[in-house]
This record gives sequence, structure tokens and C-alpha cells, in this order.
Amino acid sequence: MTGASAPIGITDLAFATAHFSLDLQQLADHFGIDVNKYYVGIGQSEMSVATADEDIVTMGAEAAAQILARHGSDGIRTLLFATESGIDQSKSAGVFVHGLLGMGPNCRVVELKQACYSATAALQFALGVVARDSREKVLVIASDVARYALDSSGEPTQGAAAVAFLVTADPALVEIEPITGLHTDDIHDFWRPNYLSTALVDGKYSLGAYLRSLEGAWGEFRSRGGVDIDQIDRFCYHQPFTKMAVKAHNRLCTITGSDLDADQRRAQIDASLAMNRHTGNSYTASIYVGLISLLERDEADLAGKRIGFFSYGSGSVSELFTGIVQPGYRALLRDADDRQRLAGRTPIDYARYRALHENVDAVQGEDYETAVETPGPFRFAGVVEHARQYQRC
Ligand code: CAA
Repeated sequence: MTGASAPIGITDLAFATAHFSLDLQQLADHFGIDVNKYYVGIGQSEMSVATADEDIVTMGAEAAAQILARHGSDGIRTLLFATESGIDQSKSAGVFVHGLLGMGPNCRVVELKQACYSATAALQFALGVVARDSREKVLVIASDVARYALDSSGEPTQGAAAVAFLVTADPALVEIEPITGLHTDDIHDFWRPNYLSTALVDGKYSLGAYLRSLEGAWGEFRSRGGVDIDQIDRFCYHQPFTKMAVKAHNRLCTITGSDLDADQRRAQIDASLAMNRHTGNSYTASIYVGLISLLERDEADLAGKRIGFFSYGSGSVSELFTGIVQPGYRALLRDADDRQRLAGRTPIDYARYRALHENVDAVQGEDYETAVETPGPFRFAGVVEHARQYQRC
């Protein structure tokens, strides 16, 4: 067993998304507005839309299967599943994934919830497990389908995606540094009562709450000995829409007195925005989709560079921390596959999107089967005696 100072972090990181997509031009046409409000104003081009036989489990399993294909499941004794869009009030979505992937029984599996923040809680818990025993490997899955009411202002900021990452000692991708800054505030900026499948949000208030949390978390990070902003090379923010990360980074640069000009600031975050621009919001997964995007799309060699992370979950809990990209990281990326995952989605029109959105609440409490729609490796087959059924395709 190594001491607490052994490097710990992310050894592998994989992406999945839903298999339909809606170009936001379709939504702009429906509302009769200029699409540049979406393309430019909020920085989103498309959003992933789940087919009727996809959900957080199918996407999470698709992401995690890539990790297991490379590393196997031996020695993974903890699976943490982070989500806002849980599919059962009691059973963890992670247990469904554990079964679908044929993982062994000697594993603790649990689901974590705090809006968009809980994947970062899972990462921190995973670091603790590995710090206690360096033989441990922890599989973290973050998976969400972001849904707002039809015809609401949140509608263009929906989306769907999942990430899975493996936390180990001597990490191959990104070492996570120990100092963090935290900020919690009991507010109602975004929330979802048990009887709703779509989130409630006070949009403008949520933007301000996000930025205030960033200031609070940065303040604590610095007071605990965290590095100053000029020692951080790239930044990765929670991205409910990509323009939010731009606003956040500008705010952080302003409050810290950074002397970088606008182009230099953009260069620190641009690559992290590329994939989220096409998936839309993926709540818990979004910041780690941003990390995949940064590692895959940034043309600079990031080995040895420090990344600053800001994770925000409405309600609200947030955390700021840093990580160091490891030498040889490029060989571990799945750039071509991830580009194909985005490019290979089936574009749908507004009417199809609307029907799928309404379908989520169509059947309650009865047995039903879903039609085969997803081309993905796992599908949600329906409900039998109140139990969700999943299949490997
Ligand atoms: N061309 C270019 N830009 C345009 C434009 C045009 N034709 N028309 C409008 N814009 C710009 C506006 O100027 C504005 O830019 P700024 O914010 O830089 O001023 C931007 O487009 C958006 O316009 P509005 O503010 O008028 O848009 P809206 O009132 O419809 O609301 C929103 C936007 C608040 C983001 C809304 O979509 C929403 O509520 N989304 C969900 C909540 C959310 O994502 N909050 C983020 C923080 S909370 C969080 O992070 C947790 C989470 O995941 C939800």
C-alpha cells in the first residue's frame, strides 16, 4: 500500500452519446427566431436526443464498455454512477450497468446525486478509495439526459451524453492534485421534483449563481494553497451551454487580475468546448466531456500542463481543482471514434424530436416494450412488472 502522496488520477476516459441529434436550426424555426441566438448567443449547434430505447444506463454502459475492453474488469471493486436523471428511486443505475457488462460480484456499486456536480463528488470519493489502498481501481460513470419542458427557455440547452473513467494510482492520463476549493449554497436555481421528468429552472438566476459559486470555490482553493491562475494552462468548466464556460472563464480572469487578452483566454478553453457544442448539456458528464474534448482537440502537446476544473451543480454545490496531463496521454485517446460518435448520429426533425420528448411520460406503471431504434450496443427494452429491462444488442 502506497502513502497518501502517491499520484492518483484518471487512467482512461471514454465518451458516449445518444444516437439521434437535433440541429438547433429546427428549434429556431419552430420559435420563428434567428438561429444565431443559439449558434452564437449560447454557443450550441446541436443537441443529442435519446431514442425511445436509450437512457442513462445504455449511454453509461456504452462509455464504460470501452474502458473494460482496454483494461478488463478485474480489480474494479467500486463503480460509482453519477446522474441527475436517475431511472429508479432505489436501485442504482450502476447496478444495471454492472450486469450488462458482466462485471464480477465483488464490487460496491452506488449512485450519486447533486444536479450536475455529482461526477466530481464521485471522482473525489474514488481518489479517497485509491489513497487508502493503491491496488484499488474505481470505475466512475457520469450519464445524463438533460430535459426541460417543451416550449420553455431551457429547451435549447438540453442534450445527452455519458463518460466513464477509471481512477487508479499512477494514472496514465491526468493526475488529480489534492487541493480543492468548495462552495455550497442552498438555493433554487435549477431543480426537479420527484413528480417531474423535466427540470425547473430560473435561468438568469442560475447564471449568476454559477458565477458566484465560481468566485467562492476559487477563493477557498487559493486560501488552501491552490496555485494562482497564471500557473494553470487550460481550463475545463461545467458546460450547460458552451457560452457559460466562456462567461465563467472571463469572470475568473477578471477577479484574479489575469493579464491575458481575449484571444489568450479563449485559447485556454476553446478545445474543451468543441464536443459539448454538439452534444448539448449532459449535466454530470458535461465537464468530463469537456476534458475529453480538450485532450483530443487541443493541437498543443498538453503533457505536463495543468488543467483547472470547475464543477457546478445547481442547488448548489461546486468544486474547483486541478490536474496534470501525463506524458504519453495522446496514445490513450479515442479521437476518431469520438468524432464518429458525433458525426454518426441520425439527424431528426422537430416533429420527431417533439414526439420523442412527449413519449417519455407516455406510459406510467404498466408493462411495455420499446421498438428497436438505437444502433448502439445496449438498449432499454421496456418494463416488465415495474422492472426496467436492458439488452446487449
Ligand atoms: N445573435 C447572437 N446572439 C444572440 C441573438 C442573436 N440573434 N439573440 C440573442 N443572443 C444572445 C443574447 O444577447 C444572450 O447573450 P448574453 O448572455 O451574452 O447576453 C444569449 O444569446 C441568450 O439570450 P437570452 O438571455 O435572451 O436567452 P434566454 O432568455 O432564452 O435564456 C438561458 C438563455 C438562460 C441560458 C436559458 O436557455 C436557460 O434557462 N437554460 C437552462 C439554465 C442553464 O443552463 N443555466 C446555466 C447555469 S445553471 C447550471 O449550470 C446547471 C445546469 O446544468 C442547468
